[in-house]
Amino acid sequence: MAKIIAIDGPASVGKSTLAKQISKKFKAPVLYSGKLYRVLALEIIKRKIKINNTKEILKCITYIDLDNLGSAELYSSEVDKVSSIISAKKEVRNKLLAFQRSFPKKYGHDKKFVIIEGRDIGTIIFPKANFKIFLWAAAEVRAKRRQEQLRKNGKKTSYSKVFNEINVRDRKDMTRKIAPLLPAANSVLLDTTYIDIEQAFNALIKIILKTKTI
Ligand code: DC
Repeated sequence: MAKIIAIDGPASVGKSTLAKQISKKFKAPVLYSGKLYRVLALEIIKRKIKINNTKEILKCITYIDLDNLGSAELYSSEVDKVSSIISAKKEVRNKLLAFQRSFPKKYGHDKKFVIIEGRDIGTIIFPKANFKIFLWAAAEVRAKRRQEQLRKNGKKTSYSKVFNEINVRDRKDMTRKIAPLLPAANSVLLDTTYIDIEQAFNALIKIILKTKTI
């Protein structure tokens, strides 16, 4: 059975970039769990379902296809907002839990590692993950990185707008009653405020190769 690498952390800390790089290094499948919330949010927007209609929202979960999670539409600010709201619903989280737990069995049977990144992977989804990494960086630094990423994608946004959005999402992710963002008790904290992505990647590789697994 593949060893599970759980990577958690706040918005724009570099989780998906690092997960992708580690995935390439170890030929490990990766699940970006935020995409599940985003796909669901997009369905809700497309079907014009009201945000408090939990019953209809839950029905949309059947449209999620783990094999087909890629779409540029998933990264609009409307999807950012709706995914953040629905991620605070207990019923939604419970249903998506099964999707996430099925990932290693479905994709990792002949692999050494599987990677799952998100907010509650080391705490709730895989409390027995072999590696638990909690990425952190100051909100100011994350806002700068996000602004740069948006700029590269041709979207010009002011720093203060990005900084505000990051603070709003941090507050929502960290203060929600169900599965809030927090480091698992036995996770390794990697603060990337003063290091670049290459240094963070090297640190993660060292952690994975040198840590005695749980
Ligand atoms: O990582 P992301 O920005 O793509 O996540 C989108 C939203 O989903 C974000 O508001 C937080 C939420 N999310 C969550 O609550 N739990 C996860 N494991 C992953 C994402």
